[in-house]
Amino acid sequence: MSNSKINMNNVEDVTNSLNSKTLRVCVIGIGRIGLPTALSFAKSGLDTIGVDINESLVQNINSGKFPLKDEPGYDKIFDDVIKEKKFSATTEIENAVPNSDLILLSLPTPMDENNIPNYSALRNVASKLSEILSPNSLVIVESTIEPGFIEDEMISLISASNRLKINENFFIGVCPENANPGEILHDFTNLPRLVGGINQNITKIIKSIYNFVFSVELVEMPNCKTANAVKLTTNVFRDINIAFVSELSLMFEKLGIDTNKVLEAAKKKYNFQVHYPGSGVGGPCLPINSYQLLNTAKRIGSNLSIIESGRKINEKMPQHVVELTLDAFKESNKALNESTILVLGISYKPNVKDIQLTPAEIIIKKLQELGVNVRIYDPYFLSTTVFGITTEENLESAFTNIDGAIIVTGHDEFKKIELSKFNQMHERILVDTRGIIDPTSALESNLIFRGLGRGQ
Ligand SMILES: NC(=O)c1ccc[n+]([C@@H]2O[C@H](COP(=O)([O-])OP(=O)(O)OC[C@H]3O[C@@H](n4cnc5c(N)ncnc54)[C@H](O)[C@@H]3O)[C@@H](O)[C@H]2O)c1
Repeated sequence: MSNSKINMNNVEDVTNSLNSKTLRVCVIGIGRIGLPTALSFAKSGLDTIGVDINESLVQNINSGKFPLKDEPGYDKIFDDVIKEKKFSATTEIENAVPNSDLILLSLPTPMDENNIPNYSALRNVASKLSEILSPNSLVIVESTIEPGFIEDEMISLISASNRLKINENFFIGVCPENANPGEILHDFTNLPRLVGGINQNITKIIKSIYNFVFSVELVEMPNCKTANAVKLTTNVFRDINIAFVSELSLMFEKLGIDTNKVLEAAKKKYNFQVHYPGSGVGGPCLPINSYQLLNTAKRIGSNLSIIESGRKINEKMPQHVVELTLDAFKESNKALNESTILVLGISYKPNVKDIQLTPAEIIIKKLQELGVNVRIYDPYFLSTTVFGITTEENLESAFTNIDGAIIVTGHDEFKKIELSKFNQMHERILVDTRGIIDPTSALESNLIFRGLGRGQ
């Protein structure tokens, strides 16, 4: 019953199929990461099909509309591979999977409102694969998953129909994705990738496939769970270090110490890796990745107290921003609940258009609960509605009739705003949560200034 010509457990078969470009690829989940991945495989000459449950996405792709306008370089690749008929998209997993040799999973792994990781997309697709995967296929999971998820869940889900047996007639491995939105082409062609297979032969085969498509260093891992542990460790390292400096910055504020000055000097020491405090940690990776490791720990009865504390600190930083704002208003003539405050930046990190789990949302909500009229200016979200607020059209309109401003995201554009601009604000209140305004200059300009972690 197999439609698959290639035995994906056989190095020679795989090498020949790559060289003759007869290996057929199916990418399931063609979103931010999966679509560029599929396009890269297609660009290398392999027939690639993308599967997604999002019908309008599939329709747009098949009618030649590239959905990721903020991914430089991929618009051209998209046009080329669509024209050459190397890539198309479908919602019909039942047709795509049996006609493919290599199945890549780039499915979402979000968390719910209680911070519990949600693997339902991966679980649903794995159950489906148990019915439709052709024997001798290879499944590679690129999604960010907890160590052990392949070994403890994916394999038994894919084997459930008793048609497929791991290491006999189906094979699995991981190659966790680590590209940054907005820079995916750059990252795909520069960043090393981790490769872990269900056995060493599969690891080598996955390496040969990725080597064919991406010319980057491929780091061989002893197994799937170690590769996923590395992926989470690198991101959680950042989450914890941001919490560390954020907590220090709260104390330095009280001590009259400028955290920026501490960090600039500290980073001169060869083994200090600098991270910066801020209004909180958002985005599709760091917060979720910490909760993924915490979920693993809970599952197996381990304790990860540092990650737990780090999360608590990062999650209380938006409240600290509100407290700084309240403190600044004590110096002004206006009550907070009668004031209009401009939030500068809503993206979770500088210079990207992405508000997933952004701390700005929490800050805005807390300010609104205190009766503040909140306005938003973000160069990536102009004249649109975000968090129920119509965003400003430009910097000029943003600075009309406001009492104060809070820099929440360190977009480059904000570094260029002259201090005199902030003097146009009725109450001249400026809260900088990203360390981009020099506190001495702000005070000399007669602003009521509060800088997160900037003790004077
Ligand atoms: N975006 C990032 O910055 C980034 C970076 C590194 C790793 N990752 C990881 O990569 C994975 C994918 O993330 P993303 O940002 O591309 O997500 P995304 O939400 O942009 O894309 C996921 C796609 O999967 C589709 N989908 C959902 N359920 C499906 C199903 N049952 N069958 C078929 N398609 C389905 C969705 O419609 C969507 O198009 C996640 O594990 C994420 O943690 C993301």
